Order: sequence, then C-alpha cells, then structure tokens
Amino acid sequence: MLEVRHLVKRFGGLRAVDDVSFALREGTITGLIGPNGAGKTTLFDTIAGVHAPSAGEIRFRGRRVGGLATHRIFHRGLVRTFQIPRPFAEMTVLENAMLVPAGQAGERFWNNWFARGRVRAQERAHRERAQAVLAFVGLDRLAGAHAKSLSGGQQKLLELARVLMSEPKLILLDEPGAGVNPTLLLTIVDKLRELNARGITFLVIEHNMDLVMNLCNPILVMAQGKLLMEGAPDAVRRDPRVLEAYLGGAGGAAEVGLRPNVGTPCPPPGGGSSSNDARAAARPSGTP
Ligand SMILES: Nc1ncnc2c1ncn2[C@@H]1O[C@H](COP(=O)(O)OP(=O)(O)O)[C@@H](O)[C@H]1O
Ligand SMILES: [Mg+2]
Repeated sequence: MLEVRHLVKRFGGLRAVDDVSFALREGTITGLIGPNGAGKTTLFDTIAGVHAPSAGEIRFRGRRVGGLATHRIFHRGLVRTFQIPRPFAEMTVLENAMLVPAGQAGERFWNNWFARGRVRAQERAHRERAQAVLAFVGLDRLAGAHAKSLSGGQQKLLELARVLMSEPKLILLDEPGAGVNPTLLLTIVDKLRELNARGITFLVIEHNMDLVMNLCNPILVMAQGKLLMEGAPDAVRRDPRVLEAYLGGAGGAAEVGLRPNVGTPCPPPGGGSSSNDARAAARPSGTP
C-alpha cells in the first residue's frame, strides 16, 4: 500500500533519512522504533508531504506522492497525527472535529446564493459525522467542552477523531502513548485495533515498548537515518543490532530491556509541556 524506495531527506549536511526502503502491507499495524534522533519523525514528515524528499521515491496505492503538498496527500487518504497534538484551544471539541475539510459545498461561495438548502444539508451531515466520530472515540460527552480542557490522552483521542473525519486509508501515528494515562491508553489501543479491523492501515512511532510489541507487527527499526531491520516483535526483541542501537545511540545510555533512552528529545516548538515528561509518565512505573 505504501512503498518507500531509497528515500533520502537531508538537512544541510545531515542525512536525517538515509537511503530508506520498505513496503507497508495493507491491513497491518506496523511499528516504527529507534533511538532519539534516528529519523523517525523526519521519515513521517517526508511521507506526509511536510518535507520534500531529497532523493528517492514514495508511492501510495500505486501512485507517486513524493513531493506532493500535504493537503493533496491527505485527500488521497494518507494522514499523520502529531506527537504533541495542538487542537484549537478556544474552540470546542466538536468544532475542532468539524474543521477537517470534507469538500463541503459551502466552500464555494456561489453555492451560498444558489443552493442554500444543499449547503445546509451538507453542514448538517458534516456535523452528524463529527458527532458520530466523537462518539466512536468516546468524546461525545465532551463535544461542547473547550479543547484546552482535555487531558493529554483525550487530546490524542481528539486528534484521532480529526483524522478519521477525512476517511483515511493509512494513518501515521506519532507516539499515541505519550502523555496518556494507562486506562486511556487501553482505550486508544482498543480503538486502533477496531479501526484496523475495519480496514485502516497504521504506521506507528512509539517509545513504549510494551505497547509496540503488543500492538504492532511487523516492526521497523531505524538508527542514524537508516533502516536497521524489519521483523516480528520477537525477532526485533532478540536482535542484538537493535539493543546495540539503543545502547550506543546518539542519546547515550539506555535502560536494559530495550527501554529506549528518552533523555534528549527536541523540545516542542513554542515551549509548553515537554514530551520528555509525557513519555516518562507513559512508561510503566519502576523504570527510572
Ligand atoms: N527541521 C529540521 N532541521 C534540521 N535538522 C533536523 C530537523 N528535523 C530533524 N532534524 C535532525 O534530524 C535528525 C533526525 O531527527 P528526527 O527525525 O526528529 O528523529 P526521531 O524522530 O527519530 O527522534 C536529528 O539529528 C535531528 O536533529
Ligand atoms: Mg520524533
């Protein structure tokens, strides 16, 4: 469904993604792991059209998407979520969900003059769809609340609701477990499994190894811009190259047992809560 061939993304002299090739099978939940600075987010951004590739090719459902604008890739059914969701804080949960375009007739100004009835019907359908999607993720009771009042986990669910409004075929999820309490994490995992059973394919970046090993198969491992290996959870867990990448990775020491180092992530733009704290909170207790 997604084919990446010899993909390179350079930032100046740095090859953040360095000759990466893989294919995603339709219907899978594929994991993407690797130490901080491995190039995972850059790979996501390049697939989703945030960055143009420096070299290589990306095909989605048989068609080239490498270098297309984000919104064009989005309309083909390939969407990404963010490590740190940024909903419009002053808008309600429902309004945030309804912001996602669905080609409403109301966007064309002349329809306001000649087809008011149709515009209203489409707006109503759009609102009903948003309400249904919020009910699916369990946020329907909070539809009227300001987005800023949501917890970290609820913001992740709102982000999921927003991407579902676009009827995606492939969702790139950046750390669905970060900053989410264990109970809500179970809800998120359930929803992802259910969406997967309904035909949505996922590629998931996640630092919580228990979550990755439970949810994802296969798993891709990146280190220093390169794809180190691809395999089933057990094969990844046992592969000495993977442990070595974490132990010797750019971030420094890692905990034994394949807990990635979370010491030096880039801070989110504009400050705010650190993803570091969020990740620490998402880790099982007992780890330092
Ligand atoms: N916009 C950017 N400009 C310059 N360097 C960047 C940019 N984004 C990421 N990098 C660098 O690319 C490398 C990979 O980063 P990133 O993709 O965020 O890794 P990961 O998500 O695996 O932690 C890092 O060395 C990072 O500093
Ligand atoms: Mg990242």
